[in-house]
Amino acid sequence: MSNHARRSTGWQLEQNASEAYEQYLVPSIFASWADQLVETGEIHDGDRVLDVACGTGIVARRAASRVGTSGSVVGLDVNDGMLAVAAEAAADASPSIEWRQGDATDLPFADEAFDVVCCQQALQFFDDPVAAAEEMRRVLTPGGRMALSVWRPLEFQPAYVLLADALARHVGDEAGAMMRSPFPAWDGENLRTLAQDAGFDDVSVTLEIGSVRYPSVEEFVRREAASSPLAEPLAAVEREVRDGLVREVEDALDRYLDDDGIVSPMESYVVTAERSQ
Ligand SMILES: C[S@@+](CC[C@H](N)C(=O)[O-])C[C@H]1O[C@@H](n2cnc3c(N)ncnc32)[C@H](O)[C@@H]1O
Repeated sequence: MSNHARRSTGWQLEQNASEAYEQYLVPSIFASWADQLVETGEIHDGDRVLDVACGTGIVARRAASRVGTSGSVVGLDVNDGMLAVAAEAAADASPSIEWRQGDATDLPFADEAFDVVCCQQALQFFDDPVAAAEEMRRVLTPGGRMALSVWRPLEFQPAYVLLADALARHVGDEAGAMMRSPFPAWDGENLRTLAQDAGFDDVSVTLEIGSVRYPSVEEFVRREAASSPLAEPLAAVEREVRDGLVREVEDALDRYLDDDGIVSPMESYVVTAERSQ
């Protein structure tokens, strides 16, 4: 396949996964979903917003641009490395964003402290997703809104099915499982029930279809690895193994190649709900 020539001669794995996440995954994937989530969450002037599992803070930054000087935004994450990058990326945000370390299942905030709670692509990583949803409801004021997103299962993410399978074959089962972990086997009804079980009312689940784009398959593999725990197992294998993996994904993703690299659909559930009282 001609685009083998696009592969560079070197393969550098980034040292800091949080910086790589902000540099690579946020522009390719998370920024456009964040725009949509703050729109869906109907964030307005004066709102007090909490971004749960904020990562490097893209949703919090988008929320800050909507709440005006009378509103406020807090981003919470369990990972200090993500929060350090978040603080740097939002140094000029107005209003300034508060960053808090903590666990989504035990939020360090008073009852009824927020008007809107957002949570983008993180519920699937929590040990107890219902407890996290209950916490989101607890910290919302009556009449407050929750907006969260969770990827649809792997079968709806063509590029990642192929990458996860190739990782399992070339690097090992653990690497394959890591690539599958963001895409839980939940359907929309599972999410509706979860929100209702947590006490939310007026639950709405929509299916949104976006895309992911990278300049080449090699960059797709390299950037996904650099931004996640995959960096370690991929760094541990011989270069020939990584080359074989990239070649296999290139061949399999042939249908999604264009003059700008690769593009592939990504599908997500978006859940909105209200705390009525
Ligand atoms: C895929 S990232 C999404 C980050 C961010 N919401 C975004 O849209 O870019 C998942 C995030 O969930 C965080 N996380 C995982 N478990 C958590 C927990 N129990 N409490 C808080 N954050 C958690 C991770 O540290 C990571 O930053």
